[in-house]
Amino acid sequence: MNRIDTLERELLDGIAAAADEPSLEAARVAALGKKGVIPELMKGLGAMTPEERKQQGPLLNSLKDRVTDAIAARREALKEQALEARLATETVDVTLPVRPEARGTIHPVRHVYDEVIQIFGDLGFAVAEGPHIEDDFYNFTALNIPPEHPARQEHDTFYLREKPDGTRKVLRTHTSPVQIRTMLAQEPPIRIIAPGRTFRSDSDQTHTPMFHQIEGLVIDETTHLGHLKWVLEEFCKAFFEVDKVKMRFRASHFPFTEPSMEVDIGYRREGGQIRIGEGDSWLEILGSGMVHPNVLIASGVDPARYQGFAFGMGLDRIAMLKYGIPDLRAFFEADLRWLRHYGFSALDLPTLAGGLS
Ligand code: DAH
Repeated sequence: MNRIDTLERELLDGIAAAADEPSLEAARVAALGKKGVIPELMKGLGAMTPEERKQQGPLLNSLKDRVTDAIAARREALKEQALEARLATETVDVTLPVRPEARGTIHPVRHVYDEVIQIFGDLGFAVAEGPHIEDDFYNFTALNIPPEHPARQEHDTFYLREKPDGTRKVLRTHTSPVQIRTMLAQEPPIRIIAPGRTFRSDSDQTHTPMFHQIEGLVIDETTHLGHLKWVLEEFCKAFFEVDKVKMRFRASHFPFTEPSMEVDIGYRREGGQIRIGEGDSWLEILGSGMVHPNVLIASGVDPARYQGFAFGMGLDRIAMLKYGIPDLRAFFEADLRWLRHYGFSALDLPTLAGGLS
């Protein structure tokens, strides 16, 4: 056996004998480190004759490769051993109770979302969606709000940076653009709700820059105001879980409906609590009306054949009313104490059969 073979045997034995990561590292440093045996031997190549170097160089290089591979293989084996040992000693007792402080809750807005979808689903409505970053066309123009219309200012719109072609996108200021997208995408009859996030530059006790709305749209050949009133009444009874609800339809104005109505529900205060459906006080909860012919035309629907109604409601607002939550801003502050107080159990999904709240 020549010197290199002997050395190789020694080095590989040392590597194989390393019982843990630190001793393997020590073996690596001794063999391959700056002052290790192999680099030291390589330094000696410079003093050899060209013939000797030609013969010794490749021998040393291949020795270095084999030692490097052996170290890598041993490192893998040690890792696996360590994992095996950990798996053998660590156990998880799945019968232990869940840590109480780790409990998560469903946010009241999400819960109300699910309640509303349940109720309208039962009335035959499908759920439609649209993007948060919207084109001016869908958010305003197609909804009969032309560029010079004062409603554009009232919306406190968040605009995105202008593009080279002069257009700029907006964060949708209401869920109404989903009406347009739905009518362009499908033929009547249409019966949809569109719940989702909306954005306006406004903040006080009852306004936050991001809030939630739900849009409703029904388009058919004979749809009329009576249907709108019935649907809203059925919704309010189911949502507020009362047998009777007092509603008031007030003439109003929206560019996208004609006629337009704002809807109030009757309530009474009782020891700091709000009782919906009784009493002589009124709370505004939504805007609605018959879809304006200009909106139908912009959406490719023939107004001579089809008509329908639409409504838009603040989801956070009806959540505040139903669950007696006084300040809207707290909804989005992610305060764990608030979430624990107003949140819902994750297993408590609202269903009409099982109860909503
Ligand atoms: N988009 C209106 C808003 O955000 C709400 C609204 C009113 C929607 C009347 C409608 C409607 O669909 O018919 O203030």
